[in-house]
Amino acid sequence: MHFFQFKKGELYAEDVPVSKLAEEFGTPLYIYSHKTLERHVKAYETAFQSIPHVVCYALKANSNAAIVKLIGELGGGADVVSGGELYRALKAGIPAKKIAYAGVGKKEDEIRLALKSKILMFNVESEQELIEIDRVAGLMKTKAPIALRVNPDVDPQTHPYISTGLKKNKFGIPFEEAIEHYRLAARLKNIEIVGIHKHIGSQLTKISPFVDALKRILLLVDELAENGITISHLDIGGGLGITYNDETPPDPAMLAKNILPLLKGRKLTLVMEPGRSIVGNAGILVTKVLYLKKSPVKNFVVVDAGMNDLVRPSIYDAYHHVQPVVKSRRKNMVVDVVGPICESTDFLAKDREIPAVNQGELLAVMSAGAYGFSMSSQYNSRPRVAEVMVKGPEYALIRKRETYADITRGEMMPEFKKQ
Ligand code: LLP
Repeated sequence: MHFFQFKKGELYAEDVPVSKLAEEFGTPLYIYSHKTLERHVKAYETAFQSIPHVVCYALKANSNAAIVKLIGELGGGADVVSGGELYRALKAGIPAKKIAYAGVGKKEDEIRLALKSKILMFNVESEQELIEIDRVAGLMKTKAPIALRVNPDVDPQTHPYISTGLKKNKFGIPFEEAIEHYRLAARLKNIEIVGIHKHIGSQLTKISPFVDALKRILLLVDELAENGITISHLDIGGGLGITYNDETPPDPAMLAKNILPLLKGRKLTLVMEPGRSIVGNAGILVTKVLYLKKSPVKNFVVVDAGMNDLVRPSIYDAYHHVQPVVKSRRKNMVVDVVGPICESTDFLAKDREIPAVNQGELLAVMSAGAYGFSMSSQYNSRPRVAEVMVKGPEYALIRKRETYADITRGEMMPEFKKQ
């Protein structure tokens, strides 16, 4: 559910016409709905209110400060995967005790920042990383709270590029080796075991992989208890899918209905790391039609947003619904909606049937709130676009459009000696 709806043939973001925002802030433009974000965070909070829990929003989905701050105000924490995301989460007011830090390649300076900030836990992905965290914690004369990310080897039944919980993926510690790694963790002086973590993939549209993976993890929790190792935090990762096209993914209530019974009688704080299901349908990308162009076999609609602004179609062949901001009665046409980038993979939609459009018309690329702006780049030296948040009849710029000066910021001329 989201709050981008047509009223009298015109697309609105909550109570504001999208065309008005495009006129005021220019295109391409990301627009987010405050109400949708709130609704999604509350859906998690309500579904899991019967047990101790933390909704650690995955910043990688969209790390804009205004969005992270809002989620924090609604009681959310953060799942971070770099020093930069940790910095952002803290700056947006997320309490350190609600921050989990994952990722396979944590560096010493990042580990130090996390230890200094006193985060909830490191989600550790390998034996060498565990030893490194112990070493750095020792140098800082502190103890590092950790969970081990265990790879349950469950097929998430999603796109192979965004599945993470299979043996062949680089993430986590193999299920069979988990106990051994926990024993090592228990021996390390500067490590404090607090949890167990799993995340099997993203854009999951079925509930069974969540249930299967959790069952496997709970077997481990019990085995650990038999070995004298108690876990207080169970982190089940993120991954709930959203509707891009005709998917019908489970919602947080459905997730709760299926997993709460498995947790009955256990003294565990549940940690979740949703990203896409919070922001995905809370954002759209608005773009303007620049040119219409025909090849002998294709109709191209060239728009002003490219793969540098929204890369998902190019790299995952992802579907995003594309529709005119103002409805027309024109007949449908099959087109490729393409951007200005000099790459053949620069498309937002391929062989897509949409109403025929004219030059200058606005198109909305739907469900673009997650992994949209956060994966955008300046490729082809295109300034990154502006972001706006709407709340009812009000709206505000939450990130300025970059300028050409922003593009060259930080670059320097070398001063080599004459040789
Ligand atoms: N926790 C961990 C450890 C993760 O690796 C991820 C996502 C999440 C949580 C959040 O997952 P979500 O709830 O958003 O599914 N760029 C891709 C998605 C990559 C997801 C990476 N990890 C895309 O655009 O589809």
